[in-house]
Amino acid sequence: MERRELLYEGKAKQVYRTADPDLLIQHFKDDATAFNAQKRGTIASKGIINNRTSEVFFKLLEEHGVATHFVRRLSDRDMLIRSCDIVKIEVVARNIIAGSLAKRLGRPEGELLSEPVLEHYLKDDALGDPMINDWHIRVLRLATAPELQTINETALKVNAILREFLDARGIVLVDMKLEFGRHQGKMLLADEICPDTCRFWDKATSEKLDKDRFRRDLGGVEEAYQEVARRICGVAL
Ligand code: TMP
Ligand code: ASP
Repeated sequence: MERRELLYEGKAKQVYRTADPDLLIQHFKDDATAFNAQKRGTIASKGIINNRTSEVFFKLLEEHGVATHFVRRLSDRDMLIRSCDIVKIEVVARNIIAGSLAKRLGRPEGELLSEPVLEHYLKDDALGDPMINDWHIRVLRLATAPELQTINETALKVNAILREFLDARGIVLVDMKLEFGRHQGKMLLADEICPDTCRFWDKATSEKLDKDRFRRDLGGVEEAYQEVARRICGVAL
């Protein structure tokens, strides 16, 4: 499947048209940003690792009955996806207190939540993705009530499946951000699932194996991404 014109360029990915109007190519870059692009850098091979980890996760989720936009991986950095109307909501699923939740609640990172917590953010870079609730979602018509129910149920299911899969590989799924899109009347899990969009902690040492190493200048960023690739894809990339 050939890339046609560039349809969209984001901070970490490009999306291209293909000859088939129903299919797009998602291209993964090494560019990394944090704090709404105030911090910029590159992480060597990140695009390859994010493409490969997303492939592993989307295939696993499809096997468990979760509908995703994933069609197949085309190359190191390219993935064929179904064209979706992306819902303007970023869904965050949390198992352990970390990041913005730790700040908001004034609690230390690492506290286990008694059950998973879902949060919703408006997907709007100009506004810095503000947190929103069900009322905002309804009034702003970001999703219908049945759509939101599907999104929430799917997010919890994805969280449970990935938690178990990662646990077996010595990784704690602390939290993650998911996106969804409408496709031919169905809600599909979209975007990517990778160390950019999840917090992965080593089960034995709680060492951070994700983009927080870049966000917080902890060093060993590339090494952490490679370790995730080894554990999730079975190879260093
Ligand atoms: P947070 O604790 O900063 O709100 O992040 C929660 C999760 O969402 C974490 O796994 C990282 C992910 N995330 C993104 O994928 N994109 C973003 O822009 C932000 C802020 C977080
Ligand atoms: N998406 C964020 C940004 O806008 C990066 C992050 O913290 O993951 O730069």
